[in-house]
Amino acid sequence: MTATATQPKYEIKDINLAAKGKQRIEWAGREMPVLRQIQERFAAEKPLAGIRLVACCHVTTETAHLAIALRNAGADALLIASNPLSTQDDVAASLVSDYGIPVYAIKGEDNDTYHRHVNIALDHKPNIIIDDGSDVTATLVKERQSQISDIIGTTEETTTGIVRLQAMLKDGVLTFPAINVNDADTKHFFDNRYGTGQSTLDGVIRATNILLAGKTLVVAGYGWCGKGVAMRASGLGANVIVTEIDPTKAIEAVMDGFRVMPMAEAASQGDLFITVTGNKHVIRPEHFAAMKDGAIVCNSGHFDIEIDLQSLGQEATEVKEVRPFTQQYCLKSGKSIIVLGEGRLVNLAAAEGHPSAVMDMSFANQALACEYLVKNKGQLEPKIYNIPTEIDKEIARLKLQAMGIKIDSLTADQIEYINSWTAGT
Ligand code: ADE
Repeated sequence: MTATATQPKYEIKDINLAAKGKQRIEWAGREMPVLRQIQERFAAEKPLAGIRLVACCHVTTETAHLAIALRNAGADALLIASNPLSTQDDVAASLVSDYGIPVYAIKGEDNDTYHRHVNIALDHKPNIIIDDGSDVTATLVKERQSQISDIIGTTEETTTGIVRLQAMLKDGVLTFPAINVNDADTKHFFDNRYGTGQSTLDGVIRATNILLAGKTLVVAGYGWCGKGVAMRASGLGANVIVTEIDPTKAIEAVMDGFRVMPMAEAASQGDLFITVTGNKHVIRPEHFAAMKDGAIVCNSGHFDIEIDLQSLGQEATEVKEVRPFTQQYCLKSGKSIIVLGEGRLVNLAAAEGHPSAVMDMSFANQALACEYLVKNKGQLEPKIYNIPTEIDKEIARLKLQAMGIKIDSLTADQIEYINSWTAGT
């Protein structure tokens, strides 16, 4: 469905879903007190007045609050999906209809539509790009060099996007500042760990309704997302095996109490496999061949490349949709493998993504990163900046305040001690 002349341009599933979307956006707002305070300040101060901004994010109830904050700040903001399968169509409808924000996102859009939306976003001639996975920034660098002079900076939400930005920097093609939102403490400690931990299992459970207690769960990757998934699955009674390529992370997993082994060994043991590595083909034909009949595989990493579904498809005699977001691959060997969410982020494909309470801090970082870029326009170099510590700490302080939790502060004596090297044994 596209826009009429008087409405902002958009491409969404169905504008009639707006009422349900608005209700859900308002519900999410109850858990987002930090972003709400920023929204209110932005409405008064308009720090992004005159800025053309593109946000390429998962279009969820939480992203709606970020988009509203940006609009309140005076930005001419446009929103596109950062994944073909993560859009909440009712939220997209409400953002267009109730909040006047142009959205280009439809759950289940094909890859061509996804890339067309990325190009529509760039046609908006952004000064700031909020990216989740770096697709808009990479397309700008590859195909729209002439627009780079318009760019004040980009802000990146996720580990995968940061890895891509680092590769751009190494190749000398990142010629504008980028803010690393992912590595803010108030982002990855909470969003990647508790957000992915809970929402990934939520996606698995909504898709399959399986009991996790007593199941053997193989988690591929022990970064912050993998740690969260392993911790929460263990809490639900699953027997967790971790696979890793990094020796330090592998030791950490061992000391956290998990079994660690190569995927080649884990393949025959797992009932459920969750990939969160950020790399491609972590589960390959030789692993599928070793799996139990009925093994379930899914991914919670940013891109749908972690499970080699093309090879699995070549081994299949039939692929059946057995429940929403649940496909059964019937293999020539007589065995079946179950794939959730087409190998895309299962937490957003089959559930609602991270809970609002963690996105509150992630998107507070995004909103303040945009303000920081504008305040420091012309003074930043073409490199990747971490979120300033003051911003990170302020978000943590506001979150604690909203939770009604007080903490200690240093006494004058302690401040003197901590700043001095003279006192010892
Ligand atoms: N990434 C993971 N969960 C999300 C959510 N709920 N909203 C936006 N982006 C997300």
